[in-house]
Amino acid sequence: MLSQVLSTNIFKILSKKEKKIFFWLLFLMIFFGLVEAFTYSLVIPYLNVVIDPNRISSVQQLQPIIAYFNLQDPLSLVALISVIFLSLYTFKIITQLILQYWINKFPYDVARHNMKLLYWHYLGLSYELFLKKNHKHMMKVLTQSIPRLSFLLIAQLSFYSSLITSCCLIAILLFKQFLFSLIMLSVIGGVGVFLYYFFKSRQKQAGNDYENGTADFYKTGLESFQLIKEIKLFNKITYFQNVMGAVSDKVTGSLKVSSFLSAVPGIVMEYVVILFLVGVVYVLMLFVNQPQVYGTLFIFYAIVGRRLLSCLGIMIANKSSIENLKPSLNAIYKELVNQDTDKAYNNDLLIQPIKSFDVILFDNISFSYNKKNDVLKSISLDIKCNNSIAFVGPSGSGKSTLLDLFLSFLSPDSGQFLVDGNPIKSLEGLWPKIGYVPQMMTVLDDTLARNIAFGVDIIDEEKLNRVIKMAHLDDVLANLKLGVNTVLGDRGIQLSGGQQQRVAIARALYLEPDILVLDEATSSLDSVTEKHIANSIARMKGQLTIIVIAHRLSTVKDFDCIYVLDKGKLVGQGNHDSLEISNSIYKSLVALDKQ
Ligand SMILES: Nc1ncnc2c1ncn2[C@@H]1O[C@H](COP(=O)(O)OP(=O)(O)OP(=O)(O)O)[C@@H](O)[C@H]1O
Ligand SMILES: [Mg+2]
Repeated sequence: MLSQVLSTNIFKILSKKEKKIFFWLLFLMIFFGLVEAFTYSLVIPYLNVVIDPNRISSVQQLQPIIAYFNLQDPLSLVALISVIFLSLYTFKIITQLILQYWINKFPYDVARHNMKLLYWHYLGLSYELFLKKNHKHMMKVLTQSIPRLSFLLIAQLSFYSSLITSCCLIAILLFKQFLFSLIMLSVIGGVGVFLYYFFKSRQKQAGNDYENGTADFYKTGLESFQLIKEIKLFNKITYFQNVMGAVSDKVTGSLKVSSFLSAVPGIVMEYVVILFLVGVVYVLMLFVNQPQVYGTLFIFYAIVGRRLLSCLGIMIANKSSIENLKPSLNAIYKELVNQDTDKAYNNDLLIQPIKSFDVILFDNISFSYNKKNDVLKSISLDIKCNNSIAFVGPSGSGKSTLLDLFLSFLSPDSGQFLVDGNPIKSLEGLWPKIGYVPQMMTVLDDTLARNIAFGVDIIDEEKLNRVIKMAHLDDVLANLKLGVNTVLGDRGIQLSGGQQQRVAIARALYLEPDILVLDEATSSLDSVTEKHIANSIARMKGQLTIIVIAHRLSTVKDFDCIYVLDKGKLVGQGNHDSLEISNSIYKSLVALDKQ
């Protein structure tokens, strides 16, 4: 079933408006084909008149024009017919230019639209579905398959354009010399069809090789850059060079094959036509007394035939390119078809913002990633507005997962969240009020200021300076040549893990959140900096709700409530002093902290 759907044509991917443009283009092509055919049909009368101007009086259709302009001498007649011919030709060229402009513009518009659509779709996926996606595959589709979509459309349009022009030219040829043209066209057509089918499967294979090759290219390339330390230390450079070499051979090999196979039919067909014409000339020499009477006809065939041949060549080349490019279309279509099952971003789905709250209740929350082993088991707790809350517990106890559920990145298998007693399916409504500092932060390849004021156009300088102080980034700033305008990330300066965490904290604080969520956000800091940040956070206590996952208990000692998790269960709650007395796991964590 899926393979049936995937063998679909380009129309499946075009929007209504794009389909309309496509048909307008087809209409324009038909018009151009007719104009071109008409222009070529004038070649013989034009040549006849130029060769022998006196023959003009025998052309019936020209008599009214001759009478109208009262033209007597042959030279002015030739001039007139030249003007008519040139005017038509100019019209043909203008139509051709307009057509070419649209043939080349439209496919890129479609590619741009699909790239936006797909990127928008990826970002709008629920976090659960996003987790299941392969990031390298998504990048490959966006950067490799989508541009090939425009090549596919160009090939498709070019194919139709050449097909229409060919039909018109064939009609003229048949009209002029039916039998001769029929024989010649059958020979060319037969050779063309044979070559197309001969190369079709090879082209398809090359297209699949390209799709798979580029996917591997991305995967191996990105992974090796991420693993650069291990590759150097374990002396694996040659191994990765070889893997990458094999992958690039596959990609370039497929490109080589497809462009060569596209060019072959045109060349072979030209050769066949030349053989045919030489054969005909030879036969004429043998059996006709004055072969020169066929002179103009031959010139006509040379002109129209050459154009027809190039059209047929383009048609076959495009048809086989379409085979080659189809796997890319299928790759995109597969992603877009998933929209039915994925929860794509949709403004209508946005939950109404929650303006304020007094208490958020976690009511019997259970969750598992694989629907087998529960990572969280019946967690019930509450978070009061403007309280400071900490989650502690051994590694793997489910702290980050619980926060992901709270932030609505994941949905519980059972249980619910209640805001002031009202059951809420998703806490997305709280998102505008939440500042989140993840366990692993990503530095953007941009300035410090833009790393902190994330995703805004105009930066509030005063707020920026304030959060830089709060996150203790002053020392980092002091070492930056261009201050907050220094580029961090890939080509900028490299930040240590602790410095990155402080940027992430500043990023969260810049939002002036009502709820600040920190997932082990100070784990990479030295104890002095950690203390400074803990003091900054302590100063905010009472003004906003603070939720922290902490591995150093010293930073959450003064928090209003500490929840202890172990193996997915809530095993203790209270303040530091009470837990230190009553909770064995908390006690052991405190002991570890002191070591
Ligand atoms: N994306 C995932 N897919 C499947 N299992 C996962 C995924 N993320 C986490 N887990 C599993 O869920 C359990 C809880 O992980 P979680 O990250 O919530 O622990 P944690 O308490 O935050 O640990 P740590 O202190 O090490 O950060 C672990 O057993 C982990 O292996
Ligand atoms: Mg964690």
